[in-house]
Amino acid sequence: MSDELLQRLRVDGAVPAHIAIIMDGNGRWAKGRSLPRPLGHHAGMGAVREVVQGCLEAEVAVLTLFAFSQENWQRPPVEIEALMGLLEEYIAREAEELRDRGVRVRILGDLDRLGNGARQAVEWVMRDTAGGTSLALNLCISYSSRAEITRAARRLAEEVAAGRLDPAEIDEAAIARRLLTAAWPDPDLLIRTSGEMRISNFLLWQLAYAELYVTPVLWPDFTRRHLFEAILEFQRRDRRFGRVTA
Ligand code: FPP
Repeated sequence: MSDELLQRLRVDGAVPAHIAIIMDGNGRWAKGRSLPRPLGHHAGMGAVREVVQGCLEAEVAVLTLFAFSQENWQRPPVEIEALMGLLEEYIAREAEELRDRGVRVRILGDLDRLGNGARQAVEWVMRDTAGGTSLALNLCISYSSRAEITRAARRLAEEVAAGRLDPAEIDEAAIARRLLTAAWPDPDLLIRTSGEMRISNFLLWQLAYAELYVTPVLWPDFTRRHLFEAILEFQRRDRRFGRVTA
Protein backbone atom coordinates (compact mmCIF):
# COMPACT_ATOMS: atom_id res chain seq x y z
CA MET A 1 0.00 0.00 0.00
CA SER A 2 2.67 2.56 0.99
CA ASP A 3 4.91 1.34 -1.86
CA GLU A 4 2.06 2.00 -4.27
CA LEU A 5 1.77 5.56 -2.90
CA LEU A 6 5.54 5.98 -3.30
CA GLN A 7 5.30 5.03 -6.98
CA ARG A 8 2.38 7.44 -7.43
CA LEU A 9 4.08 10.44 -5.86
CA ARG A 10 7.15 9.82 -8.04
CA VAL A 11 5.05 10.19 -11.21
CA ASP A 12 2.53 12.77 -9.95
CA GLY A 13 4.88 15.73 -9.66
CA ALA A 14 7.71 17.36 -7.76
CA VAL A 15 8.47 16.01 -4.30
CA PRO A 16 8.89 18.78 -1.69
CA ALA A 17 12.60 19.52 -1.21
CA HIS A 18 12.09 20.39 2.46
CA ILE A 19 9.45 18.96 4.81
CA ALA A 20 8.97 20.29 8.35
CA ILE A 21 6.93 18.39 10.93
CA ILE A 22 5.37 19.37 14.26
CA MET A 23 5.22 15.97 15.95
CA ASP A 24 2.20 16.29 18.22
CA GLY A 25 -0.09 13.96 20.14
CA ASN A 26 2.32 11.70 22.05
CA GLY A 27 0.63 12.59 25.37
CA ARG A 28 -2.87 11.88 24.03
CA TRP A 29 -1.68 8.63 22.47
CA ALA A 30 -0.40 7.49 25.89
CA LYS A 31 -3.48 8.75 27.72
CA GLY A 32 -5.74 6.80 25.35
CA ARG A 33 -3.93 3.66 26.46
CA SER A 34 -3.80 4.61 30.17
CA LEU A 35 0.02 4.80 29.91
CA PRO A 36 2.36 7.45 31.38
CA ARG A 37 3.15 10.30 28.94
CA PRO A 38 6.85 9.32 28.51
CA LEU A 39 5.71 6.06 26.91
CA GLY A 40 3.91 8.15 24.30
CA HIS A 41 7.18 9.91 23.50
CA HIS A 42 8.93 6.54 23.34
CA ALA A 43 6.36 5.32 20.82
CA GLY A 44 6.93 8.60 18.92
CA MET A 45 10.50 7.51 18.21
CA GLY A 46 9.13 4.79 15.95
CA ALA A 47 7.36 7.45 13.89
CA VAL A 48 10.64 9.40 13.60
CA ARG A 49 12.22 6.26 12.10
CA GLU A 50 9.27 5.93 9.70
CA VAL A 51 9.52 9.48 8.36
CA VAL A 52 13.30 9.35 7.96
CA GLN A 53 12.92 6.13 5.97
CA GLY A 54 10.05 7.64 3.95
CA CYS A 55 12.02 10.80 3.12
CA LEU A 56 14.99 8.71 1.96
CA GLU A 57 12.70 6.66 -0.29
CA ALA A 58 10.88 9.70 -1.68
CA GLU A 59 14.19 11.57 -2.12
CA VAL A 60 13.22 14.54 0.04
CA ALA A 61 16.40 16.60 0.61
CA VAL A 62 15.67 18.15 4.03
CA LEU A 63 13.51 16.99 6.96
CA THR A 64 13.12 19.30 9.96
CA LEU A 65 11.45 17.85 13.06
CA PHE A 66 10.21 19.87 16.06
CA ALA A 67 11.23 17.61 18.94
CA PHE A 68 11.40 19.97 21.94
CA SER A 69 10.50 23.65 22.22
CA GLN A 70 11.93 26.21 24.63
CA GLU A 71 8.44 26.31 26.15
CA ASN A 72 8.70 22.54 26.79
CA TRP A 73 11.26 23.27 29.56
CA GLN A 74 8.19 24.17 31.64
CA ARG A 75 6.94 20.57 31.56
CA PRO A 76 7.27 18.38 34.69
CA PRO A 77 10.95 17.43 35.33
CA VAL A 78 10.19 13.73 34.96
CA GLU A 79 8.85 14.28 31.43
CA ILE A 80 11.83 16.49 30.48
CA GLU A 81 14.22 13.82 31.76
CA ALA A 82 12.37 11.18 29.75
CA LEU A 83 12.56 13.28 26.57
CA MET A 84 16.29 13.97 27.01
CA GLY A 85 16.86 10.29 27.71
CA LEU A 86 15.01 9.44 24.51
CA LEU A 87 17.17 11.84 22.54
CA GLU A 88 20.29 10.04 23.80
CA GLU A 89 18.67 6.65 23.14
CA TYR A 90 17.66 7.68 19.60
CA ILE A 91 21.22 8.80 18.82
CA ALA A 92 22.81 5.70 20.38
CA ARG A 93 20.48 3.38 18.46
CA GLU A 94 20.22 5.11 15.11
CA ALA A 95 23.49 7.00 14.52
CA GLU A 96 25.29 4.18 12.73
CA GLU A 97 22.40 3.46 10.36
CA LEU A 98 21.82 7.18 9.74
CA ARG A 99 25.48 7.60 8.79
CA ASP A 100 25.45 4.51 6.57
CA ARG A 101 22.36 5.77 4.75
CA GLY A 102 23.87 9.21 4.14
CA VAL A 103 21.71 11.14 6.62
CA ARG A 104 23.37 14.26 7.99
CA VAL A 105 21.99 15.18 11.43
CA ARG A 106 21.97 18.74 12.76
CA ILE A 107 20.46 19.99 15.99
CA LEU A 108 18.85 23.42 15.88
CA GLY A 109 18.18 25.21 19.16
CA ASP A 110 19.69 26.47 22.38
CA LEU A 111 22.03 23.58 23.15
CA ASP A 112 23.48 25.34 26.22
CA ARG A 113 20.38 24.34 28.16
CA LEU A 114 20.91 20.60 27.54
CA GLY A 115 22.45 18.43 30.24
CA ASN A 116 25.97 17.07 29.68
CA GLY A 117 24.88 13.64 28.44
CA ALA A 118 22.43 14.96 25.85
CA ARG A 119 24.81 17.70 24.69
CA GLN A 120 27.69 15.28 24.19
CA ALA A 121 25.41 12.90 22.30
CA VAL A 122 24.15 15.60 19.91
CA GLU A 123 27.63 17.02 19.32
CA TRP A 124 28.89 13.54 18.55
CA VAL A 125 26.07 12.64 16.14
CA MET A 126 26.54 15.93 14.25
CA ARG A 127 30.25 15.17 13.80
CA ASP A 128 29.69 11.48 13.04
CA THR A 129 27.13 12.10 10.28
CA ALA A 130 28.72 15.28 8.85
CA GLY A 131 29.55 13.57 5.53
CA GLY A 132 25.93 12.59 4.74
CA THR A 133 24.49 13.86 1.45
CA SER A 134 21.24 11.87 0.97
CA LEU A 135 19.06 13.63 3.55
CA ALA A 136 19.62 16.55 5.94
CA LEU A 137 17.81 15.72 9.19
CA ASN A 138 17.34 18.74 11.44
CA LEU A 139 16.16 18.05 14.97
CA CYS A 140 14.83 21.22 16.63
CA ILE A 141 15.60 20.87 20.32
CA SER A 142 15.18 23.65 22.88
CA TYR A 143 14.06 25.64 19.85
CA SER A 144 12.02 28.84 19.67
CA SER A 145 11.47 30.66 16.39
CA ARG A 146 11.05 34.06 18.03
CA ALA A 147 14.33 33.54 19.91
CA GLU A 148 16.01 32.59 16.61
CA ILE A 149 14.72 35.75 14.86
CA THR A 150 15.66 37.91 17.87
CA ARG A 151 19.18 36.49 17.77
CA ALA A 152 19.46 37.26 14.04
CA ALA A 153 18.32 40.87 14.70
CA ARG A 154 20.88 41.23 17.49
CA ARG A 155 23.66 39.94 15.22
CA LEU A 156 22.71 42.42 12.50
CA ALA A 157 22.70 45.28 15.04
CA GLU A 158 26.14 44.21 16.32
CA GLU A 159 27.55 44.10 12.79
CA VAL A 160 26.15 47.57 12.05
CA ALA A 161 27.52 48.92 15.37
CA ALA A 162 30.96 47.46 14.55
CA GLY A 163 30.90 49.17 11.13
CA ARG A 164 30.94 45.84 9.23
CA LEU A 165 27.42 46.22 7.79
CA ASP A 166 25.57 49.10 6.15
CA PRO A 167 21.89 49.18 7.32
CA ALA A 168 20.92 49.64 3.65
CA GLU A 169 22.25 46.10 3.03
CA ILE A 170 19.75 44.53 5.44
CA ASP A 171 17.28 42.68 3.25
CA GLU A 172 15.37 39.39 3.57
CA ALA A 173 18.37 37.36 2.44
CA ALA A 174 20.56 39.04 5.08
CA ILE A 175 18.11 37.97 7.79
CA ALA A 176 17.72 34.44 6.38
CA ARG A 177 21.53 34.02 6.38
CA ARG A 178 21.59 34.62 10.14
CA LEU A 179 18.91 32.06 11.00
CA LEU A 180 19.70 28.53 12.16
CA THR A 181 18.33 27.23 8.84
CA ALA A 182 20.66 29.37 6.69
CA ALA A 183 22.01 26.32 4.88
CA TRP A 184 18.66 25.06 3.54
CA PRO A 185 15.77 26.24 1.35
CA ASP A 186 12.56 27.13 3.21
CA PRO A 187 10.17 24.24 3.92
CA ASP A 188 7.70 23.55 1.08
CA LEU A 189 5.40 21.51 3.30
CA LEU A 190 4.57 21.71 7.01
CA ILE A 191 2.89 18.67 8.53
CA ARG A 192 1.28 18.84 11.97
CA THR A 193 -0.17 15.73 13.57
CA SER A 194 -2.98 15.38 16.13
CA GLY A 195 -5.32 17.89 14.50
CA GLU A 196 -4.08 21.07 16.21
CA MET A 197 -4.24 24.16 13.94
CA ARG A 198 -1.23 26.04 15.33
CA ILE A 199 2.33 26.93 14.31
CA SER A 200 3.54 26.95 17.97
CA ASN A 201 6.57 29.24 17.53
CA PHE A 202 8.11 26.93 14.87
CA LEU A 203 10.03 28.33 11.85
CA LEU A 204 7.88 31.49 11.72
CA TRP A 205 10.09 33.17 9.12
CA GLN A 206 10.82 30.07 7.06
CA LEU A 207 7.19 28.88 6.73
CA ALA A 208 6.05 32.05 4.90
CA TYR A 209 5.00 30.12 1.77
CA ALA A 210 4.83 26.54 3.04
CA GLU A 211 1.77 24.43 2.32
CA LEU A 212 0.12 23.41 5.59
CA TYR A 213 -1.09 19.86 6.13
CA VAL A 214 -2.83 18.98 9.39
CA THR A 215 -3.79 15.37 10.06
CA PRO A 216 -5.79 14.01 13.02
CA VAL A 217 -3.34 11.07 13.27
CA LEU A 218 -1.44 11.15 16.60
CA TRP A 219 2.34 11.25 16.14
CA PRO A 220 3.12 7.70 17.40
CA ASP A 221 0.66 6.34 14.80
CA PHE A 222 2.19 8.33 11.90
CA THR A 223 3.78 6.05 9.29
CA ARG A 224 5.47 6.23 5.86
CA ARG A 225 2.02 5.82 4.34
CA HIS A 226 0.79 8.99 6.10
CA LEU A 227 3.90 10.85 4.92
CA PHE A 228 3.33 9.78 1.31
CA GLU A 229 -0.35 10.81 1.56
CA ALA A 230 0.75 14.27 2.73
CA ILE A 231 3.20 14.54 -0.20
CA LEU A 232 0.49 13.50 -2.67
CA GLU A 233 -1.84 16.15 -1.22
CA PHE A 234 1.01 18.71 -1.55
CA GLN A 235 1.37 17.78 -5.22
CA ARG A 236 -2.32 18.59 -5.77
CA ARG A 237 -1.97 22.11 -4.28
CA ASP A 238 -1.73 25.18 -6.50
CA ARG A 239 1.24 27.13 -5.09
CA ARG A 240 1.01 30.76 -6.19
CA PHE A 241 3.43 32.53 -3.81
CA GLY A 242 1.09 35.57 -3.84
CA ARG A 243 0.90 35.65 -7.66
CA VAL A 244 -1.90 34.51 -9.98
CA THR A 245 -1.71 31.30 -11.97
CA ALA A 246 -0.68 31.67 -15.61
C1 FPP B 1 4.41 16.54 21.38
O1 FPP B 1 3.45 15.69 21.99
C2 FPP B 1 5.70 15.87 21.29
C3 FPP B 1 6.81 16.23 21.97
C4 FPP B 1 6.84 17.38 22.90
C5 FPP B 1 8.07 15.47 21.86
C6 FPP B 1 8.40 14.85 20.54
C7 FPP B 1 9.39 13.76 20.76
C8 FPP B 1 9.44 12.60 20.10
C9 FPP B 1 8.61 12.31 18.95
C10 FPP B 1 10.35 11.48 20.54
C11 FPP B 1 11.79 11.80 20.53
C12 FPP B 1 12.36 11.85 19.19
C13 FPP B 1 13.64 12.18 18.98
C14 FPP B 1 14.22 12.26 17.63
C15 FPP B 1 14.50 12.46 20.11
P1 FPP B 1 2.71 16.18 23.31
O2 FPP B 1 3.42 15.64 24.48
O3 FPP B 1 2.56 17.67 23.29
O4 FPP B 1 1.32 15.47 23.11
P2 FPP B 1 -0.11 15.96 23.62
O5 FPP B 1 -0.39 17.28 22.93
O6 FPP B 1 -1.03 14.87 23.16
O7 FPP B 1 -0.02 16.08 25.10
